[in-house]
Amino acid sequence: MGKVIAVANQKGGVGKTTTAINLAASFAATEHPTLLLDIDPQANCTSGVGLNPRSVTASTYEVLIGDVPVEDAVRSTEMPFLDMVPSHINLVGAEIEMVDVLERERILKQALRSARRKYDFVVIDCPPSLGLLTLNSLTAANSVLIPVQAEYFALEGLGQLLNTIKIVRQHLNPELELEGVLMTMFDTRLRLSNQVADEVRRYFGDKVFKTIVQRNVRVAESPSFGKPVLLYDATSKGARNYIALAREILNNNQRFLSEAEETQEESTPSGTNRRPNTAATEAGDGAVSSSPNTNGDTLPESSPSTPASGFSL
Ligand SMILES: Nc1ncnc2c1ncn2[C@@H]1O[C@H](COP(=O)(O)OP(=O)(O)O)[C@@H](O)[C@H]1O
Ligand SMILES: [Mg+2]
Repeated sequence: MGKVIAVANQKGGVGKTTTAINLAASFAATEHPTLLLDIDPQANCTSGVGLNPRSVTASTYEVLIGDVPVEDAVRSTEMPFLDMVPSHINLVGAEIEMVDVLERERILKQALRSARRKYDFVVIDCPPSLGLLTLNSLTAANSVLIPVQAEYFALEGLGQLLNTIKIVRQHLNPELELEGVLMTMFDTRLRLSNQVADEVRRYFGDKVFKTIVQRNVRVAESPSFGKPVLLYDATSKGARNYIALAREILNNNQRFLSEAEETQEESTPSGTNRRPNTAATEAGDGAVSSSPNTNGDTLPESSPSTPASGFSL
């Protein structure tokens, strides 16, 4: 049973799509079967891995609205361990079409129930809003990863997102945890970037990933070639940052992965298991310590002006 990670922040341009693509690609590069699911009508994530959203026949839209099984919408990508459920511009109307559906916030969760068994991770690229598409993602997810751009007003609007997460926990998905807060587009030359990182750490404490994604032109260029940065320029800073992020998350989720492996072994006939031996990929990364993130985290209660000291992890 794969771990479902929703990459969410209702602010546009903070690095959600970039993170979803490159984190999923980095999991795949370390031979963890991964499904990338694009639930943003803009479909940047879909084109970013080289699929043409206009030629897609079954997308997240059909999964949500048309009762199409996720398996029928899954497409393979250039990377052997990376599959994708593409998005389509039709998704723009999905929120309205879903309004009358019973349990409309749980449609994606139900849809992913069987498909996620084949993967170690399902990474969802959320749209820049807190509407029904993001609610479906947060309800289907085990955890949420929040990218924060290292710029002025970085924390602005996060109170609203945290409040939404709290409501989802109360009513729809009590297990939802915070995978972590990721600093993106960090510019080491700017004092501002460091100041913002300090402020984010003051608020979120060790929920902030140790890995920071630096501003890197290769990261920005790679989507126009329909490739994750890892395939576009594997030696770039951006590629290395996202591999480090994947390692950090893998280290934080050792228990989840071994439990998932046991469940899969029980449910998969021998010989058909896609899962490679993962031991080698996670071993020996001494830089990353074991997780504070796996369990029992409590989100900050109020607005992001509250310091991190107010919540237990
Ligand atoms: N680390 C980075 N270095 C340089 N450019 C980046 C980086 N991360 C994201 N970008 C660029 O910033 C813009 C917004 O990123 P995107 O991932 O699309 O954000 P979102 O999905 O939150 O709207 C895109 O043009 C993207 O290429
Ligand atoms: Mg996006």
